[in-house]
Amino acid sequence: MAVSSCARVLPCSFDCRPDPHFTGNPRPEIPSFSSGKARSLPIHGGSLRSSAGLSSLILKFPPNFVRQLSNKARRNCSNIGVAQVVAASWSNNPSSAVPASTTAVNPTAAPLDDIDIVHGSPVVADGDCSDSTNSNVQFKGSAALKASFLRSNGSLAVHAGERLGRGIVTDALTTPIVNTSAYFFQNMDQLIDFKEGHHDSFEYGRYGNPTTVVAEEKLSALEGAESTQLMASGMYASIVMMFALVPAGGHIITTTDCYRKTRIFIETILPKMGITVTVIHPADMESLKSTLEKHDVTLFFAECPTNPYLRCIDIQFVSKLCHSHGALVCVDGTFATPMNQKTLALGADIVLHSATKFIGGHNDVLAGYVSGSEKIISEVRKMHHIFGGVLNPNAAYLLIRGMKTLHLRVQQQNLTALRMAEILEAHPKVAHVHYPGLTSHPEHHIAKQQMTGFGGVVSFEVDGDFLNAKKFIDNLKIPYNAPSFGGCESIVDQPAVMSYWDLKEPGRAKVGIKETLIRFSFGVEDFEDLKDDILNALAAI
Ligand SMILES: Cc1ncc(COP(=O)(O)O)c(C=O)c1O
Repeated sequence: MAVSSCARVLPCSFDCRPDPHFTGNPRPEIPSFSSGKARSLPIHGGSLRSSAGLSSLILKFPPNFVRQLSNKARRNCSNIGVAQVVAASWSNNPSSAVPASTTAVNPTAAPLDDIDIVHGSPVVADGDCSDSTNSNVQFKGSAALKASFLRSNGSLAVHAGERLGRGIVTDALTTPIVNTSAYFFQNMDQLIDFKEGHHDSFEYGRYGNPTTVVAEEKLSALEGAESTQLMASGMYASIVMMFALVPAGGHIITTTDCYRKTRIFIETILPKMGITVTVIHPADMESLKSTLEKHDVTLFFAECPTNPYLRCIDIQFVSKLCHSHGALVCVDGTFATPMNQKTLALGADIVLHSATKFIGGHNDVLAGYVSGSEKIISEVRKMHHIFGGVLNPNAAYLLIRGMKTLHLRVQQQNLTALRMAEILEAHPKVAHVHYPGLTSHPEHHIAKQQMTGFGGVVSFEVDGDFLNAKKFIDNLKIPYNAPSFGGCESIVDQPAVMSYWDLKEPGRAKVGIKETLIRFSFGVEDFEDLKDDILNALAAI
């Protein structure tokens, strides 16, 4: 399909699409709304062809407006159009205090359909802002306008500043959020070129977005991947990945310790599609071998580290073994982050993340992604284009921003978690600590080899019973009692309640969830504060 193959090769420059009527700069289209009929600016006879004419054109902006334009509108393609309309409306309001020297508004000027600006010299938008220290906005260059089809307020509100091309400012330091659901074509030839693969476009918002591509490129770079597909959530990424890569009749191997909803999907939904599953203990490599020999296994899927016990599989070993039987390996690396674990370099075919966690890092966005070879990810992408769980471009921006501090956050979280894991392990009111950075962890030797840090989450069992764990959480002051993990704010939860309450105690015991288990996600708060808070809460039980 033209769409899916094209989305990956789009240049991501944020230049607006070239427009045959547009020479690259905002136009001085200033309609008058006072009479209900579109009016033009005084353009010296209604038709401006000399550069001298346009250079004298002064647009007056309302107070504060220019500052808003520089801070917001210049970052966002569509806001430029809005800015022009608002500025025009204000400039043309007879009650507004336009200085006498300003000749921008002429109520007797020609109707809009008379406008035919072809070439122009610099247009200066003179910001007469009382409270702005940097109030001048200069648009330099020429302009062109033929807008006889835009006569009414409604049409102007929708199309002014945009339909004939846009003055896109590309010098914004940050990545613009491109809020669009569709991408247009200049003419039918361009559309046919696109269908034939000679013109790049996303075509439709479900098939891609320039802001999201920036986030994907960042993730590919961090994962060492050819390709990344961002999606609406980690759960959706798992589902689409499995639907895309495992055929009806296929067989999946997964591990006992695992995010509950993923397990539910694998064990209850996939069988309806004729896909069967074998669940092994994360350390049980003999079972892995025998399952690979017994079944035609399509996919091995495991978290590393796992949720919530932070068990680790030997990614290199498992990948080699699975590949020798023709099975793909997908590792959910959410707990590790690409900072601590280069999952693809260790041999996995696909790395999957709930980007909701450390990647976003601020507890304010849901997202998921898969990274891997172009060949594999394009299969997932094709399925995703049908299922449609698209990441909103605003969420993509939050991921881009979040990732700029990922290395700093993870460094701090690794350090805090390791130090606290050691303190907790020595504490008389803690029965057991699960953290891959501790020598007592059953896969510490593996974690040491495949991770450069052990992550920001520590799971531990408090001494006593269910009520002790509950009381411990209620005595904490800093962390939020909430699901999720990986953000700047510390989060704590008792999995028996937060994620497994409905199973009742026997059901929880069956899936290995202990009543006294605590999962603690360390944020970026000061270590000493967190330590004191935890020690005080332990003292209270
Ligand atoms: C390891 C792991 N993978 C995937 C998910 C699902 O991600 P999301 O909540 O973004 O759908 C979670 C959720 O907690 C998780 O812990």
